[in-house]
Amino acid sequence: MSVLGVYGVVLDVPDLEAGRRFYEDAGLEVRDEDGRLHCRCEGQPRDAIVLIGGAERKRLNHIVLAADKDRFDEVRRNVPANGGELIDPVPGFPADGVWLRDPHGMAIHLVDAPAEVPLEPAPEFKINQPGRLVRKNVSAMPPKSTVGPIKPLRLGHMLVFTPDVLASIEFFEKGLGMGLADRAQDVVAFMCSRHGSDHHVVAFAKSSDIGFHHASFMVANPDQIGVSGDRLLEKSGRGAWGFGRHTIGSNLFYYIQDPWGSWFEYYSDIDYVEDYEAWTPTNYPLEDSLHHWGPPVTHDFVHNYEADPEPYRQAKPDAA
Ligand SMILES: [Fe+2]
Repeated sequence: MSVLGVYGVVLDVPDLEAGRRFYEDAGLEVRDEDGRLHCRCEGQPRDAIVLIGGAERKRLNHIVLAADKDRFDEVRRNVPANGGELIDPVPGFPADGVWLRDPHGMAIHLVDAPAEVPLEPAPEFKINQPGRLVRKNVSAMPPKSTVGPIKPLRLGHMLVFTPDVLASIEFFEKGLGMGLADRAQDVVAFMCSRHGSDHHVVAFAKSSDIGFHHASFMVANPDQIGVSGDRLLEKSGRGAWGFGRHTIGSNLFYYIQDPWGSWFEYYSDIDYVEDYEAWTPTNYPLEDSLHHWGPPVTHDFVHNYEADPEPYRQAKPDAA
C-alpha cells in the first residue's frame, strides 16, 4: 500500500520552446529552472510535467508517484522480488525517496508526498433534468467572449505504454502496492491507490515498448473541458479526440495532441475509489476500452511514437 497518488512526469523532448507554448496554451504555469521547463497547475506545489530539452525525439524519462515514506523499505524489498530493480537517481533529480525501474525498464521515482493537495470545492454544476429542475430563472451559459482563461486544477493521472499490460498490473500491485481498478482484457488497465484516489492515477496501454501516452488534468466541470479543449486545439493545430465520455472510469474527456504526438487530456467527473475493499474490478470487453460515447477515435490515438516515430514526422513535417 505504498503509492498514494500521481505526482508528475518527466519527458525528454527536442524542442523546449514548442513545449512552453503548448503547456502555457493548455493553462499551466511554465517556468525555467536548471535549463528545464517546469509545468504545474496554478496554486499547486508540484511540477506536473518537466521537460528536458536537446533530445532527438520525445521520450519518457521517468514518472513520479506520491508514496508513503513509512513503506519505502517494503518497496525496496518488493521491487526486486517482483521483477523490478532499484536504481540510482536520474542525474539532476533529487535523490530522496525510492528510484526504481519496472520489469519493462520504465524509471519511477517514489517521493514522500500526500496523495494530492486538497482543492477548494467547486461551484455546483447544475443540470436541469426531467422532473428535476435545479436551475431556474438564470442562464447556464454566458457569452463566449466573457469566459476568461481556464486553468487546470491538478494532474489527475497519466497513461503509459507497456509491452505487457498484465505484467505491469502485477508489478504495480505487488511491487508498489497499488490496486487494479479495471481493465479491458490485456489491452488497457487502470490502477488506483488503495488509500482512496481517482479511479486511476496510472494507466497502461499495450504497445511494443514503453512510452508516454498522456497526462490528464482536472477542470471544474464539463463546460470547462469543452472550452479548454477547443481553445487548445485552435492554438496547437494538431490532432484532437473528444469531447466524449469513457466507460472505464466514467470521466468526460477531451484530448489534444502535443507537439510530439502524445496527448494532453482535460477531464471532469471521474469515478472515485474511496474504499478499495468495496470496489470490484471489472474486465471489460474491448469495445469499452476507449470510450462510451464521443466522436470516432483518431487514427493515431494509441500509436506509440516513442517506439515508432516516423508516421507522425511524415504527417506533421513541422513536428520535431
Ligand atoms: Fe486519461
